[in-house]
Amino acid sequence: MEQRGVFGSRLAIVLATAGSAVGLGNVWRFPFMTGQNGGAVFILIYFACVLLLGIPGMVSEFVIGRHAQSNAARAYGSMGHRSWRFIGYLGILTSTIILGFYAVVAGWCLQYLFASVAGQLTGDAAYVIRYFQTFSADPIKPCLWGVAFVLITHLVVSKGVNDGIERASKLLMPLLLILLVVLVVASCMLPGAYRGVEFLLKPDFSKVSGNVFLEALGQAFFSLSLGTACLCTYASYFKRDTDLLRSATQIALLDSGIAILAGLMIFPAAFSVGVQPDSGPSLIFITLPNVFQEAFGAVPVVGYFISILFYALLVFAALTSTISMHEIGTAFFHEELHLSRRRAAWVITGACVLLAVICSLSVGAYDGLRLFDMPLMDFCDFLTAQFMLPAGAFLTSIMLGWFVSRRLVQEEFLMGQTHDTSRMVKRAFFHIWLFSVRFVVPICILLIFLHQFGVI
Ligand code: PFF
Repeated sequence: MEQRGVFGSRLAIVLATAGSAVGLGNVWRFPFMTGQNGGAVFILIYFACVLLLGIPGMVSEFVIGRHAQSNAARAYGSMGHRSWRFIGYLGILTSTIILGFYAVVAGWCLQYLFASVAGQLTGDAAYVIRYFQTFSADPIKPCLWGVAFVLITHLVVSKGVNDGIERASKLLMPLLLILLVVLVVASCMLPGAYRGVEFLLKPDFSKVSGNVFLEALGQAFFSLSLGTACLCTYASYFKRDTDLLRSATQIALLDSGIAILAGLMIFPAAFSVGVQPDSGPSLIFITLPNVFQEAFGAVPVVGYFISILFYALLVFAALTSTISMHEIGTAFFHEELHLSRRRAAWVITGACVLLAVICSLSVGAYDGLRLFDMPLMDFCDFLTAQFMLPAGAFLTSIMLGWFVSRRLVQEEFLMGQTHDTSRMVKRAFFHIWLFSVRFVVPICILLIFLHQFGVI
């Protein structure tokens, strides 16, 4: 059998996995979810979800993936009973649906990249809003950009894990982080920006509802790429001595840090130019062009180049995430159905192209494409983030916590813990993690579900 790829260095592992986590979920979805769910209070609940459920959930997927060193479905089946493979199938389905609608937003970013090169994003706040509305209502353009994005992802993935994923992740993540910091400073210096900072940092507990919990849970899982078997697939390329708990914690902190930076970039500017914080998915597209113009008004050429650089980096951040979603299904079809990697990649690409076109039309030219009273794109987002991802994480914890031999799980968990912490500390970490996986994660997810469906 052909040799599986292995990520080259320790840094490359963390960067590639962080590359999957950091993407439009942080820069696009987190701000608009925060805006729609009351600001600071949503962020608090989001952090609680990351710490209590996200990190233990990530470690669980890492344990399963690295133990099996194979695609998601086989990994679940080889750690637990064969029938647990269905969690892997669920993950493949979830990630394919996410890729379908995610590519639409990534396509919008591509359009904005080209529009900033062409200098089309200059005008007052009303013009910037109109620009987005006109673009998204076009029947052809947004579809083409979305399809282009799926095809770019296809190209990288069909080249294989060593060449594509690793090289792309290493260079661009640090650059994105630096640029975000610059934009946060610029945004916070706009007139009236303090109201945006207040919105992000001063919790208003009257906004708490069951729905906020479910949205925060879904956002945390979406942002960490958790519940799709994506982390499990990436962990199958980890080295034997990778410290799983440490990697999960680093990635979760980096991911949440970037989300907060994105919030600090968007809301001060949104309040400053009068964009509503609950504007929904268009929020970053109708806010950011104002930041580039107003904050760098004294030297417009700086604003011009920063805007190009920003959209270029956002496109790359989205790409490192779409690569990971695509890889889940590609690895499965390649290894299980013995298709060549290229053919396997085409299966996923075909499905995603179709979905991307339908989703794009549903929020633009054909608003009749609806399910449960939502545009199809919003429905796919709702279905995956608020239902399929938590369900994937729930089932994973049940399997690992209750149906897999404790010795096996412990061995895999401790394998990477080579640092100078004593054996006792390592074991203590293991026990805390196992307790979360057996009780905290499944019970919290269950309670949030039951509350949402009106049972409690
Ligand atoms: N975590 C990615 C983001 O925040 O943009 C989105 C994502 C990637 C979700 C991979 C699911 C996945 F399997």
